[in-house]
Amino acid sequence: MDLNALLQSMTMKEKIGQLTQCTAELFLQTDAAATGPREAIGLPKEMLPLVGSVLNFANAEEMCAIQRAHLEADRLKIPMLFMMDVIHGYRTIFPIPLAMGCSMDPSLMDDCSQMAAKEAAASGVHVTFTPMADQCRDARWGRIMETTGEDPLLNEWMGKAQVWGFQGTTRDNTDLRSPDTLAACVKHFAGYGAVEAGRDYNTVELSERTLRETHFPAYKACIDAGARMVMTSFSAVDGLPAVANPWLMKTVLKEEMGFDGVVISDYDAIRELTVHGVAADLKEAARLAFSNGCDIEMCSAAYALHLEALVNDGVLSEADIDNAVMRVLRLKEELGLFDDPYRAVDPQREDAVCTDPAHRVLAREAAEKTAVLLKNNGILPFSKEVKRVALIGPFAENHAILGFWSCRGREEESVTVRQGVEALLPYAEVTAVRGCGNTVGDVDRSGFDEAVKAASEADVVILCLGEPSHYSGEGNSRVDIALPGVQEALAEAVIEANPQTAVVLFNGRPLAVPRLKETAPAILEMWFPGSEGGSAAARLLFGEVNPSAKLAVTVPRCVGQCPISYRYASTGRPKTIAHGYQPFRSNYLDEEITPLWPFGYGLSYSRFVYESLRLETDTLRCGERLMVTLVLRNDSDREGTETVQAYIRDLHASVTRPTQQLMWFSKVTLPPHQRITLKIPVEESDLCFFDREMRYVAEAGTFELFVGYADHPVHAVQFRLE
Ligand code: BGC
Repeated sequence: MDLNALLQSMTMKEKIGQLTQCTAELFLQTDAAATGPREAIGLPKEMLPLVGSVLNFANAEEMCAIQRAHLEADRLKIPMLFMMDVIHGYRTIFPIPLAMGCSMDPSLMDDCSQMAAKEAAASGVHVTFTPMADQCRDARWGRIMETTGEDPLLNEWMGKAQVWGFQGTTRDNTDLRSPDTLAACVKHFAGYGAVEAGRDYNTVELSERTLRETHFPAYKACIDAGARMVMTSFSAVDGLPAVANPWLMKTVLKEEMGFDGVVISDYDAIRELTVHGVAADLKEAARLAFSNGCDIEMCSAAYALHLEALVNDGVLSEADIDNAVMRVLRLKEELGLFDDPYRAVDPQREDAVCTDPAHRVLAREAAEKTAVLLKNNGILPFSKEVKRVALIGPFAENHAILGFWSCRGREEESVTVRQGVEALLPYAEVTAVRGCGNTVGDVDRSGFDEAVKAASEADVVILCLGEPSHYSGEGNSRVDIALPGVQEALAEAVIEANPQTAVVLFNGRPLAVPRLKETAPAILEMWFPGSEGGSAAARLLFGEVNPSAKLAVTVPRCVGQCPISYRYASTGRPKTIAHGYQPFRSNYLDEEITPLWPFGYGLSYSRFVYESLRLETDTLRCGERLMVTLVLRNDSDREGTETVQAYIRDLHASVTRPTQQLMWFSKVTLPPHQRITLKIPVEESDLCFFDREMRYVAEAGTFELFVGYADHPVHAVQFRLE
């Protein structure tokens, strides 16, 4: 397609149509019925046939119907782009991103993203609003479930893996024309994960140093991995909402990061500039967003109503409009839409792809690899020979374990814990008792007696607790991050009735459960595990598979510790005693400063021993590489997988540095009683940071490297950078 010729032939209104995105409902209904939603966003009637992209739709049939009607009406026959939030699966749902972060396994993320791309593309999706590369340290924020955790390095790897997986990127090729791929849109640029007080959409207060050092790298990694689109954040950073923030959008995104793909606003975010109070009216909002590089306006009509006038007034140039339109047309061309506006979509193929049994196998593998074993006094794994199993709690038979962004996933198709246990233990007698609800304010204890009776009559108890899935995700922030309702009280009663009780948690945010940690014999954190959650939980509990995930996020003891991260800088007055309050030190009167469970923590049924950590030389010279050697042994009778983590600390620098920062991680599977020697490479680039003058450099001096997990070094060595 000669895109230049096409652009030349377009009227200004047609161009602006390409820069406008609307939800599918506007195109599906009769003209009269669509009037309501169209008027709600203020879109002029004559613009509707010119709109260039669609957000959300039900299935292949609907997509084809919308595209067909559009092509019939459009003078230039420019296909529409179809976009959707394909976040952790499409019809087959894999674990929420926070859980995927805990796998610390980018290749698993790549595989799951490929699977989701295949299903979504078969339904007619062209662009997914993923990866979300926001970094979060605050469990109150409901969207923490969409992050891959709190660590910049882990987020970089997970973000890249999603871009590669969705876009079908192999070593040297990205083929967006393939009917199995989607274009990826990295979001929310930038800093959205740091909303104040964990309240969604709130303002962000971040220094340039923190933004550059811990927030930008994951977005940049996604852009470098080839993400074709970037979405702006709702939040104001340094007083300006992202979509109107020239420093973020022009200086950082375009100039420094070199992003030349399509920029899209978040939902209604351009109109919301007037609500933020930085634009007097919609026309000013359109000017601010467009002149800061936002190409497509999602679900408001500032561009449709005002861009043309802004060009006529000489405020915006037609050349800039042309450049924005060209970026959109190029993406359409790259996706092959000018050759096949339907990208091989047909409803029969859609169904076959979305119900491919191989996808369920991968979803189960992912759920198994993302569950974190938080506590085990030795009762797990349960024997498969048990005769009576009691399943207790609001998640015992609950299908609602897909997680907030479960796209076209169907709850009734998810495997419950009960179904998982029954499939694994066909001869066991399984009883299930709900015991209580799991919503805030639910104080009903009338089910406790039945739960206690079932527990006392069983050989083993699986106590399935958690938050409803709509307690996390967009807009769903909480000030209390404990288990809702009377679930902790239920747990105490059940554990007292039968000490062979394993607690299984389903939740989208870290939960502060200090009492449960004390009383429960074992705790398995499933997060929201997706379609195969119940089978994965059963296989983990009964030892068919060995837990291997590590926390990608710090779990606080109580909400008052938020925001919290393992990657803190030393204060001038760090606490010097392990427990209790220390006057005039950086700590709390009424709570420890340590988390309930730290970043990088997670148990296994195997026992791994870190035998030795050695430096090949104790000096790293610029341009060279230093090798650190670690001997790891599996000191148990079970094969298992360990995620080896290496952390670094710069002991003296021109600005304060984190007391520990993840520098390297790798997953190693070891047969029983085997050992392996691992080489951990350290390069100058691993030691860089933004110095006092905001230059990205490594400063000569002494560094400490340790292996273990956050705040828990097993072995440490020191070396010098010269
Ligand atoms: C969310 C985005 C999402 C968009 C489209 C917004 O409200 O913040 O993450 O991609 O809606 O659904």
